[in-house]
Amino acid sequence: MLFEPLQIRGLSISNRAWMPPMCMYSADPAPGRAGFPTDFHVAHYAARAAGGAGLVTVEATGVSPEGRISPYDLGLWDDAQISSFARLTAGIRAGGAVPAIQLAHAGRKAATDKPWLGGGSVSETDLGWLPIGPSPLAFPGLPVPAELSRDEISAVVAQFAAAARRADAAGFDVVEIHAAHGYLLHSFLSPISNKRADEYGGSLENRARIVLEVAGAVRAVWPESKPLFMRVSATDWIEENPHDSRDAWTVEQTTQLARWVAELGVDLIHVSSGGVDQVPVPNDVDYQTRLAAEIKRDANVLVGAVGRITTPQQAERLLAEGEADAIYVGREMLRTPSWANDAAIELGARPRFIEQYAYTQPSARA
Ligand code: FNR
Repeated sequence: MLFEPLQIRGLSISNRAWMPPMCMYSADPAPGRAGFPTDFHVAHYAARAAGGAGLVTVEATGVSPEGRISPYDLGLWDDAQISSFARLTAGIRAGGAVPAIQLAHAGRKAATDKPWLGGGSVSETDLGWLPIGPSPLAFPGLPVPAELSRDEISAVVAQFAAAARRADAAGFDVVEIHAAHGYLLHSFLSPISNKRADEYGGSLENRARIVLEVAGAVRAVWPESKPLFMRVSATDWIEENPHDSRDAWTVEQTTQLARWVAELGVDLIHVSSGGVDQVPVPNDVDYQTRLAAEIKRDANVLVGAVGRITTPQQAERLLAEGEADAIYVGREMLRTPSWANDAAIELGARPRFIEQYAYTQPSARA
């Protein structure tokens, strides 16, 4: 099943072995170049496409300069950036994959350094900026964010829509809205980080309001024939911790959110978890894929599973048992760009570019 095509709206995706968004922290932060993809990004994404992935998701891309996780992130806040992103979509398409992009706002977790340099806050006097959030509550170790006004919330919603329009112009076939990992949209969803008393805080409906507004605004400008995905954190992992009784974001609330955004035209929920606070996360291999299965069953939506999926057999089992509709392979595709082609050979399916890569090895022919 991993190499069965998947049709969503007007798009046919050749297989279900997909690459999730993963920041490379490799853009040039200099004014005038910030946010632009480089030759490295073109090579990096094209390699995973040629390696057989059905869909390749370009990393978290800021809808505004302040929406970047780090000064080294990609961004699509300016029409001048479109042509550089068109180089990414051309490379991914030439590699045989569907080009997707994750549109993101980092919120209170913005303005941090490259993770291999410690990932700490980057000060305003250096390359950083003051982060924003639903409430003036800091993520551990980061500065207190400025609380967004209602007008500023509307501006962020418009920034997501404008970035989606640019993603279409750059040739992307799928947009994924980043509503996970404690970044801006998830920080509104979670009572851990959202203490607002207006219509954007309090009840589930209120905490979800900005996410529904973003989904509606993006769907309104994103072509009808093109799929729209949303990445969610299915739980804050607070409920699962017997020593932590804080009110938090849960899988039941995620399921309700999935139903709401599906009505607004979101086609697939990409199920991740955590990120709003530093809390222990289970370390069993299906810690996260079981959340995908739960949301698929209860919300009756297309679901992408991710997290610690490393072998073709594991991916195949998740699909065969109806736990997911697509499989995202993250770190393993960083290590092995040809993960999907290798999986195809192992499962007896036909790999991509069989002539170019395998004619000298007849045993690898499918
Ligand atoms: C990530 N992840 C991530 N998630 C996301 O939604 N947007 C992003 O830009 C990034 N960036 C990122 C960079 C790097 C270097 C890693 C390793 C991870 C999370 C990623 O998409 C995925 O969910 C996790 O890596 C878990 O899947 P694997 O690696 O266990 O297959």
